[in-house]
Amino acid sequence: MASLWGQLGVLMMLLAAAVSSASARFIVEKESISVVSPVSLRGRHDAAIANFGVPDYGGTLTGVVVYPEKGRDGCSAFDGEPFKSKSRRPVILLVDRGGCYFALKAYNGQQAGAAAIIVADSINEPLITMDAPEEEFADFDLTKINIPSALITQSFGKDLKEVLKDAGGEVVVKMDWRESMPNPDKRVEYQLWTNSNDECGGRCDEQMEFIKNFKGNAQLLERGGFTRFTPHYLTWFCPELFRHSQQCRVQCINSGRYCAPDPERNFNKGYNGKDVVVENLRQLCVHQVANETGQPWIWWDFVTDYHVRCSMREEKYSKKCAEQVVESLGLSLDKILKCMGDTEADAENDVLRKQQELRIGHGSRGDISILPTLVINNVQYRGKLERTAVLKAICAGFKESTEPIVCLNPDIETNQCLRSNGGCWKDSKLNVTACKDTFRGRICECPAVNNVQLVGDGYNFCTAVGPGRCEINNGGCWSETKDGQTFSACQDSELIGCRCPDGFHGDGHQCEDINECKDKIACQCPECSCKNKWGGYDCNCKGNLLYIKSQDTCISKNLSTFGWFMIVFALACVVCAAVAAYLFYKYRLRSYMDSEIMAVMSQYMPLDNQLNKETQPLREGTSAPAF
Ligand SMILES: *[C@@H]1O[C@H](CO)[C@@H](O)[C@H](O)[C@H]1NC(C)=O
Ligand SMILES: *[C@@H]1O[C@H](CO)[C@@H](O)[C@H](O)[C@H]1NC(C)=O
Repeated sequence: MASLWGQLGVLMMLLAAAVSSASARFIVEKESISVVSPVSLRGRHDAAIANFGVPDYGGTLTGVVVYPEKGRDGCSAFDGEPFKSKSRRPVILLVDRGGCYFALKAYNGQQAGAAAIIVADSINEPLITMDAPEEEFADFDLTKINIPSALITQSFGKDLKEVLKDAGGEVVVKMDWRESMPNPDKRVEYQLWTNSNDECGGRCDEQMEFIKNFKGNAQLLERGGFTRFTPHYLTWFCPELFRHSQQCRVQCINSGRYCAPDPERNFNKGYNGKDVVVENLRQLCVHQVANETGQPWIWWDFVTDYHVRCSMREEKYSKKCAEQVVESLGLSLDKILKCMGDTEADAENDVLRKQQELRIGHGSRGDISILPTLVINNVQYRGKLERTAVLKAICAGFKESTEPIVCLNPDIETNQCLRSNGGCWKDSKLNVTACKDTFRGRICECPAVNNVQLVGDGYNFCTAVGPGRCEINNGGCWSETKDGQTFSACQDSELIGCRCPDGFHGDGHQCEDINECKDKIACQCPECSCKNKWGGYDCNCKGNLLYIKSQDTCISKNLSTFGWFMIVFALACVVCAAVAAYLFYKYRLRSYMDSEIMAVMSQYMPLDNQLNKETQPLREGTSAPAF
C-alpha cells in the first residue's frame, strides 16, 4: 500500500509538473481604489481582487478607512462594538498582511461590521491575488464571506496609515469594480472550467451547488441570446515515459494522453481517473450536440440530472446511467458517441485536445490551472462561486442599459442596504431610506415620498423641497405643540428652507420662544406690565389704561386727546356719509322726475327720434303708471 501511495505521489508530481510548466502565466485582476479625501492623498491606486468573497463587479463602494487599534493583522476576532464611521458611511477595514490566511482577515472584518477589507502588503512587490485556503485548512466558513477584499501595495498602505495617524478627520476611499469586467458588446461570453468528478470534497460540492442554483438564470440568459456559455473540462496528460505504466492506464484514456486524478486517490477502490475523463468527454459532447441542435442550454439539465441520477456516492457513475440521461433529454445518442470517438485508441481525441489547447491563456486571461474557474468576457472571475455573485459579474459584462431584465431583478440586489442601512440616511418615522440596492452596488440617494422629492447628501440628511413639502415630516423643519397650540417653521408658501415663526428665534430646525419682555421687544412703556407666553406675550396696562397692541402703548379708557380725535374723526365721517347720501338721493330724484315728465309729455306731442330713443330705456326702467 505504501509503495502504491509512493508511486501515486510520483505520478501526481509529474502531473502537477506538467501543469505548472505550462501555467506560468497568472493574471492579477485589478480594481481601482481612489482616495476621495483628504485632498493630500487624492488619486487612484491599484488593488488586486481576491479569489474569495464577493467583489462588486460593475459597481463601486465608497467608505471610510478604519485601521483597528488592536489586532491590526485581523487574524483574531475583533471584539467589542462593530466598526463604525462618524459620517455613517460604510467601513472599509485596513489590515496588515501576514499572520494568517487572507480569507480569515476578511471573515473577521465582516463579522465586525466592515463593508470591505483592504490588506496592506507587508513587502514591496507587485500585487498578487489573495487566494482562499483549501477548505480543510480553514476553521471558519469560507462560503460565509460576502464582502469584497483587495490587496494594496505596501507603499499605498503606508500612506493611508500615515494620514490616519495624525488626521483626526476621515479618510474616504472609493473602491471601483466598474472596469474589472469588460463589456465590449451586447452579448456576454462566459466559460466554466469544471470537472465531472463529484467526489472531490468541498470544491466539487461548491461547484455542483453553483451549477444547480445557477441553471435557471443560465438557461434564461442563453435562450434570450444574451449570453454564450461554453463548458470546459480540464484534463492532464501522462509524461511520455510513464504512458504505459499501471497508473497511467487507470488514470488516462487514449494511451495516457488525457488523464484525471483518481477520485478517491486510491487505485484499488471505487472509480478511476479514467472514468472521470470519459465522463468529462461525454459532457463536452452533450454540449456540442445540444449546441448543434440550437439548444446549448441542455448541458445544464444534463449535468444536474446526471449528478442526481448517476452519483459516484451511490455507485451509479457509469456509461449506462449517463446514456439514460442523454436519452431522457431527447439528445441523439449516436451523435454523442460519434463525438466522443474511440477512447481506447492510441490516438488524439479532437474534443479533448482542443480543451488542452484552450487551457493556455491568451489576452487578458491567464492559464487555467485550478477548478472550478469561471471566465467572463475573457476575464477570470474572482470571488466565490455563488449564484447571485456570478450573475452580478455577468450582468456587469453588459454595457449599462443593455443588460437583460434578469440583471435588474431585485433578486440580485446586493442586500448591502440590510447591513446598517448601507450607511445611508433613513427616517424611521416615515419608514423611508436613502439606501438603494442595485446590482451595481448600493447607492445613497434621497427618495421621493408621496411625490415629493427629498434632497440632501443621502448620508446625513434628506429633506423635502417643493410644494407639499410641509406634509412630509414638516419639511424637516421644527414644529411643536403645547397646550393645543402648534407652531411650525415650515411655510408651504416657501419652497425650501425653514424659518422660525414670529415669536420664536432659531435656525428653523430648532426654534426657541422669544422672551419679548426680557429682550425688551414689546410692552416697554412705563405703564405696561409684560408677561411672556410661548410664541407670544401678554401685555397689560396699569390702572385704567388700555393696551393698544399695534401701537405698543397704553391709552386711557377715559377720553384723551386721542379719544377726542377719534370721536371727531368718526363724527366727520358720519356727516360726510350723510351729505353724500343726500346728494345722491337728490340726483336720483331729479332724474326720476325728468323721466316722468318726458313720459307724460310724450303722450301729447311727438318727440323727435333721438329723444324718443333716449326715453325708451327710462320708461322701461321706471315703473311707469299703466294708462
Ligand atoms: C455553438 O454553435 C454556434 C453556432 O450556432 C457556434 O458558433 C459555436 O462555436 C458553437 N459552440 C460550441 C462550443 O460548439
Ligand atoms: C416599512 O416599509 C417596508 C417596505 O417598504 C415594509 O416592509 C415595512 O413593514 C414597513 N415598516 C413599518 C414600520 O411600517
